[in-house]
Amino acid sequence: MNSVKVGDKYFELFIDNQEIQQKIAEIAKSIEEEYRHKKPVFLCVLNGAFMFAADLMRLIQIPAEVSFIKLSSYTGMQSTGDVKTLIGLNNGISGRHVILVEDIIDTGKTIHELLPLVHAKGPASVKLASILSKPDARTHDVQIDFTGFEIPDKFVVGYGLDYNQLGRNLPDIYALADE
Ligand code: IMP
Ligand code: MG
Repeated sequence: MNSVKVGDKYFELFIDNQEIQQKIAEIAKSIEEEYRHKKPVFLCVLNGAFMFAADLMRLIQIPAEVSFIKLSSYTGMQSTGDVKTLIGLNNGISGRHVILVEDIIDTGKTIHELLPLVHAKGPASVKLASILSKPDARTHDVQIDFTGFEIPDKFVVGYGLDYNQLGRNLPDIYALADE
């Protein structure tokens, strides 16, 4: 499909699944070389990264674990506005080599908030894999260790990424059409 309607907006094909799979194969190879004897824990950041994490894990042929986390707004007694907590991580990551798996690094704000929470659990190391990156949109400095595609500052859907929760199921990545 060359264009799709998601919710009320039209999107055009931007990166097809075959290109995505080729890129993931390269990433998997680099990770295997670097983590051969380290039994890494892949931490998939929900919801957006579920598809990337599944495809990446399928190609990893060294011993590895996968776990899922989510960043939520604080829901304690005080309403402290912007404070976030980490949901998930029942199995500790203390002393483990962690690879965070993200869908997209846009401004970098999310990963900037997430990293200290992950480091607080005492991992041996933390690296970041993201299938997409929008370097032009960055407001927070982020080091991405395994990047899929650097894309212009356009809104995209598909392959896990949503527009108002829709479009995550599309196998390819689509960009918002010019109006
Ligand atoms: P950041 O905090 O600005 O880096 O953005 C992080 C989150 O915003 C991502 O994990 C996505 O959930 C969402 N996001 C950023 N850009 C897009 C996009 O183009 N399409 C869909 N979601 C996006
Ligand atoms: Mg996300």
